[in-house]
Amino acid sequence: IPSKITKIACIGAGYVGGPTMAVIAQQCPHIQVTVVDINEKRIADWNADDLSQLPVYEPGLPEVVAAARGRNLFFSTDVEGAIRDAQMIFMAVNTPTKTFGVGKGMAADLKFVELCARQIAKVATEDKIVVEKSTLPVRTAESIKTILESEGNGLTFRVLSNPEFLAEGTAIEDLYKSDRVLIGGDEDADGQTAIQALVDVYANWIPREKIITTRLWSSELSKLTANAFLAQRISSINAISALCEQTGADVDEVARAIGMDSRIGAKFLKSSVGFGGSCFQKDILNLVYLCHHFNLPQVADYWEQVVMLNDYQKHRFAKRIIDSLFNTVSGKKIAFLGWAFKKDTNDTRESAAIYVADELLHDRAEIHVYDPQVKAEQIYADLEYLQKHRRTNSHSCSEQEPITVDEIRSLVHVHNDAYTAMDNAHAIALLTEWDEFKHYDWAAVYQAMKKPAFVFDGRNILDRKQLTELGFNLHSIGKG
Ligand code: NAD
Ligand code: UGA
Repeated sequence: IPSKITKIACIGAGYVGGPTMAVIAQQCPHIQVTVVDINEKRIADWNADDLSQLPVYEPGLPEVVAAARGRNLFFSTDVEGAIRDAQMIFMAVNTPTKTFGVGKGMAADLKFVELCARQIAKVATEDKIVVEKSTLPVRTAESIKTILESEGNGLTFRVLSNPEFLAEGTAIEDLYKSDRVLIGGDEDADGQTAIQALVDVYANWIPREKIITTRLWSSELSKLTANAFLAQRISSINAISALCEQTGADVDEVARAIGMDSRIGAKFLKSSVGFGGSCFQKDILNLVYLCHHFNLPQVADYWEQVVMLNDYQKHRFAKRIIDSLFNTVSGKKIAFLGWAFKKDTNDTRESAAIYVADELLHDRAEIHVYDPQVKAEQIYADLEYLQKHRRTNSHSCSEQEPITVDEIRSLVHVHNDAYTAMDNAHAIALLTEWDEFKHYDWAAVYQAMKKPAFVFDGRNILDRKQLTELGFNLHSIGKG
């Protein structure tokens, strides 16, 4: 098994593969890193001269790519060539929730991972270390190993689990100063050699004491558990936000008060319109599916509630808009500030904005969206995708007729300017916490809106005192 790594391949040039490999290449000039993808457009964008066109918007990423690209960082569509050359191959392909068949709406779809394993086995001519970077159900390494060994012409393969903990929007910072790097592997001699080879890569910039090594299954399960715990904190504070709205308590004050208890901690207690992103929901549903698989229904129900509460929170926000606007938004102009699932990213997967928009569209609202980083086509694609792939147990309009593509195109308008989106609007819904929203000329916005001028701040970032003094009818999360 290779013990010294000079060539790395990464399959999957997405939000994880791109930034993680760019940082490895930047920090390890002696290692050649090749990131491959079957998506030709994505690879072309990674190779674009204009670094503002990179497929992933992430603060600090253009600088990292500029430092390493062409030196020891390469983006290519030659998947087989990269596999053949590398001693260590990362799999950073997507693992979405299955939308059909066994485990539909719950289990992770591992077809891309399986395809990678088959391709590695087919083209490898030397022993390799294969690293799971994608988030996977516990014991997936076993399946990967079986495929590699059955198809791999007698070569030796070692599978490591090295889950990624970066958050979008802060990916580069997270990769530079990881709280920890987790590497799981086999306990035998080859397994330990493989683990050490990967430890040596990270040790180029991560302090040794932050690199922890475990058994394979612990590493795989730690990733799902970390995301489940993080999401659970948000659902917990969001549950309390509903109670705050009924009682006159203020959820931000409650979060601050409990967060100062060092056993609870202050981070990840920001109440919101609901968590989004490609992973929290997917990973919890995956955990729930695993628990059912191992006949642990009570454990499954416990974790599923985190997702159900999140559905409820998004639904509650949409309902509050409709209720406040005299029980109908039909034909009314609603401005959406933000579409991305959080600030500082162009990623919209599972963004709360999509679900809130969907509920308002069912009431025939006219939605005018402004997001500093999201393109119009993405917004239409998100709404169209939801009509086809709605989770049946979710809170939103599951029993209603899907909205047609034509209706979406005629009711949703995308603006390049926030002020035109808000001009003459009946209400503003703030869905993403982009910093620029705080600094708008709110007096001018108020003048240009229909009265009463409603603002629904789904992120609690606007200045409540200022906006109410200007005359806005402001609704925040978890504030009576
Ligand atoms: P993504 O969809 O942005 O990227 C995956 C890429 O893999 C796509 O570009 C796709 O074309 C490519 N791909 C799929 N099959 C391929 C194949 N056979 N050969 C070559 N390329 C192939 O996904 P992502 O957000 O980067 O997530 C990847 C994995 O990392 C997931 O398992 C996810 O759960 C996990 N993860 C994501 C994040 C995050 O912040 N997005 C953080 C931690 C972990
Ligand atoms: C999350 C985890 O934070 C990462 O550690 C993990 O690697 C990643 O998932 C993954 O596995 O994909 P990410 O989804 O990129 O990262 O972003 P987060 O900062 O976790 O935010 C997720 C969602 O929760 C966002 O919609 C955000 O607005 C929301 N959120 C977050 C809140 O509503 N309140 C909070 O206090 C924190």
